[in-house]
Amino acid sequence: MSEQSADGRVAVVTGAAAGIGQALAGRLAADGLRIAIADLAPAEETVAAVEAAGSEGFAERCDISDGTDVDKFAAAVRERFGRCDVLVANAGVYPIAKFEDWTWEQWRAVMSVNVDSLFHLTKAFLPPMREAGWGRIVLAASNGVYSGLPGLTPYVASKGAVVGFLRSLAGEIGADGVTIINDAYNASPDSMAAALKTLVQIAPGRTIAVRWSDSSRTSTIALITQIANSTPLMIV
Ligand SMILES: NC(=O)c1ccc[n+]([C@@H]2O[C@H](COP(=O)([O-])OP(=O)(O)OC[C@H]3O[C@@H](n4cnc5c(N)ncnc54)[C@H](O)[C@@H]3O)[C@@H](O)[C@H]2O)c1
Repeated sequence: MSEQSADGRVAVVTGAAAGIGQALAGRLAADGLRIAIADLAPAEETVAAVEAAGSEGFAERCDISDGTDVDKFAAAVRERFGRCDVLVANAGVYPIAKFEDWTWEQWRAVMSVNVDSLFHLTKAFLPPMREAGWGRIVLAASNGVYSGLPGLTPYVASKGAVVGFLRSLAGEIGADGVTIINDAYNASPDSMAAALKTLVQIAPGRTIAVRWSDSSRTSTIALITQIANSTPLMIV
């Protein structure tokens, strides 16, 4: 498949009912990709945006922290589209509390949604990419990994795991044409350049780090929407 044409490709986007995932799904649809959305929340609005962009899409209720749910969703994607070329593992949770107030159950819930989900999603969607010799996996990290975010210790720990996951897996699967992209929102362009160099050393020519610099959730989403509206995201 040509790296220049997205037509016919399929992107799975988790957490696309709202926020950054919604913006990315809309952009990918405008680039000609068909979109499958996994979210706990209803995503009709995003499906309508995908169709308005001239593509097709569907959404299923899926808890990405639950392997059985993810397998059912993957079966639905196979049935509807027969393939998955791009996995955007975007859904994540970021509750805030003082460390003393965290319960074990709350800690596990953050880890389960932000980290365990990567195991389930990658197990389900990586094999067809490797077989096809082309694929993109986009993971949502956070600049908090580099700066720390008081009140968000479980979240930042989970995003550190995301970075470790992608760096190791990138070296393992790069030779099969599958690229992992790290969205560490809020990072600076300088740290992007440094991280990119590291990642390229691990998997030459196969992995790219994408970081967008901004501070608040609202302005990050606005910025990503703006970038998404002017730049084809997945043809790298
Ligand atoms: N917003 C920011 O400034 C920012 C900064 C750094 C990183 N991020 C990361 O970007 C990603 C998206 O952030 P956002 O601000 O758009 O989030 P958001 O809260 O606006 O949307 C997250 C979506 O994920 C869904 N979701 C939550 N738990 C789920 C589960 N178990 N299964 C399936 N879907 C689930 C929600 O229903 C929601 O639609 C997250 O991984 C977040 O950690 C965001």
